[in-house]
Amino acid sequence: MTEVYSVPAELAKSAWIDAETYAAWYERSIQDPEGFWAEHGRRIDWIKPFTKVRDVSFSGDVHIRWFHDGSLNVAANCLDRHLATRGDQTAILWEGDDPNESAAITYRDLHERVCRLANAMTALGVAKGDRVTIYLPMIPEAAVAMLACARIGAIHSVVFGGFSPDSLAGRLQDCASSLLITADEGLRGGRKVPLKANADKALETSGSVRNVIVVKRTGGAVQMTAGRDHWYHEITQAAAPTHQPVEIDAEDPLFILYTSGSTGKPKGVLHTSGGYLVYASMTHQYVFDYHEGDVYWCTADVGWVTGHSYIVYGPLANGATTLMFEGVPNYPTVSRFWEVIDKHKVTIFYTAPTAIRALMREGEEPVKKTSRASLRLLGSVGEPINPEAWTWYHRVVGDDRCPIVDTWWQTETGGILITPLPGATPLKPGSATRPFFGVKPVMVDAEGKVLDGAVEGNLCIAESWPGQMRTVYGDHERFVQTYFSTYKGMYFTGDGARRDADGYYWITGRVDDVINVSGHRMGTAEVESALVAHPKVAEAAVVGYPHEIKGQGIYAYVTLVADEEPTEELRKELVNWVRKEIGPIASPDLIQWSPGLPKTRSGKIMRRILRKIAENQFDALGDTSTLADPGVVDDLIENRMNRA
Ligand code: WT7
Repeated sequence: MTEVYSVPAELAKSAWIDAETYAAWYERSIQDPEGFWAEHGRRIDWIKPFTKVRDVSFSGDVHIRWFHDGSLNVAANCLDRHLATRGDQTAILWEGDDPNESAAITYRDLHERVCRLANAMTALGVAKGDRVTIYLPMIPEAAVAMLACARIGAIHSVVFGGFSPDSLAGRLQDCASSLLITADEGLRGGRKVPLKANADKALETSGSVRNVIVVKRTGGAVQMTAGRDHWYHEITQAAAPTHQPVEIDAEDPLFILYTSGSTGKPKGVLHTSGGYLVYASMTHQYVFDYHEGDVYWCTADVGWVTGHSYIVYGPLANGATTLMFEGVPNYPTVSRFWEVIDKHKVTIFYTAPTAIRALMREGEEPVKKTSRASLRLLGSVGEPINPEAWTWYHRVVGDDRCPIVDTWWQTETGGILITPLPGATPLKPGSATRPFFGVKPVMVDAEGKVLDGAVEGNLCIAESWPGQMRTVYGDHERFVQTYFSTYKGMYFTGDGARRDADGYYWITGRVDDVINVSGHRMGTAEVESALVAHPKVAEAAVVGYPHEIKGQGIYAYVTLVADEEPTEELRKELVNWVRKEIGPIASPDLIQWSPGLPKTRSGKIMRRILRKIAENQFDALGDTSTLADPGVVDDLIENRMNRA
């Protein structure tokens, strides 16, 4: 039996949403979505108030529009509207990689920085609808750059600083960015990341980029190309400190964020302005039970959607103090997270299961030697959290006092869809629990039959919510194909789930060829194409396997070209090759030399079998009668790499 953690009585009283409110609001959000969202759509400031709430179709001509006759400015919602009431309050609390470096940036200061950059970008010719790629470390300028884009209506595409020059180039090219904002170098765990040098390499093949703005972070030597490259501090100093926000239609794009799918290149997930901001700010307030005075810390990187919605847009729209951390959990010591919590009196802490598992391995002492008395709420995101890690997080980090919100969502969903509300939802370790307002999860079987009651199946969402992605940038057909063709009239998440008798959801993981490595999404096809691009590789197949810290590890089966000898050296070379092609997060953990891959007679790789061998479950291979050469499988089992 799963232990149930009831809602602390104090919290039920002070929280925005208690159990009764949850039930009533949820019911209304499903029965009367138009009325519900019309009301909550007003939580942000509109330049032209909307009269239309939604126009959505999940079949036929697939389209999703929310609040579509309204207009607003997202940056003005995150900055200007707070100036009168909280100009001197800290908006961004920045904690550097080095524990001796931190900064508090007030709403007034942040507003001025954003205005200056918006003016500087305008002077460079960047206008509404243009694409701007942001390739920055976790420094305040990353948030400033996002908000400056929002202010002028440019569409930002943030690329995680850990991605390679090739990955950056692909993303610059796909959306034809005209401006790139980067830094000389990043700093993580005491090590330097050569961002500008990477950018220079990417720019060799990205002809659309006319200007590059470079933030001086470390002062390391970089090459500046005259006429193209500009120092951030110079052009912002020269720019005016005020700026009139541009009026933006609710359905004008706010950002593109590239994410891996089961096939092909990463997709440009497109989010628009009005509905996204309503949803990000509303979920931030209710899921984290955010109140005035809280110090809120989400440890994600702004290169991922979590950073967009829950470091920048949600918290700033709510006038919160949001902590931005440049470093890593284990530098200079494995107490860093907890020390930062004490240093800044963090009250709400949101991180990923992979970090919790890694820190759990270090034992309780590095946690217990810190106070953490300021904490009142914990959150988890990115992958299923195993009950063992959940209970450790609750007991050791939260001193049995802080509820944990296990928030399930995706880049595509813009904000949290399935989650506890801390004042309303009794918790079960490992379950993301119940849907947020307006979210209608549906369980379906492989044939698309809707399943009722306590069942396991594929997770779909039946109705739209305002934060939903609107299209794949430049490829609406791929959007329709990926999300709306598997199950008629529903959004297919790509996740499997179990629903228990209490209506709680337990996400079991991806059911497609996407793997989740340390909370980062990786398409197996991407790693495969990086591997086969190596001259010594003839064929490769990549699957996930259970990994103690990362959740899933990357297991690659590699067939070499004729006459190439498998050596330890070549193994290292291939790992480095993939790091270089995609980035360190894509490094294979295990490479198995495979003289052949299991294929059907028509030549299709039987991934099901490869997954089982990687999981060390070779006794349960299932039907192997369609294999062209059964001998291949025996060899793979004999030489398997995961013997855990
Ligand atoms: C995939 C989405 C949402 C921001 C971070 C990842 C998995 C995410 C949970 C959770 C179980 C989770 C799903 C999902 N996932 N959160 N709380 N419990 N699984 O965004 O890179 O778009 O990945 O992450 O498999 O589909 P993303």
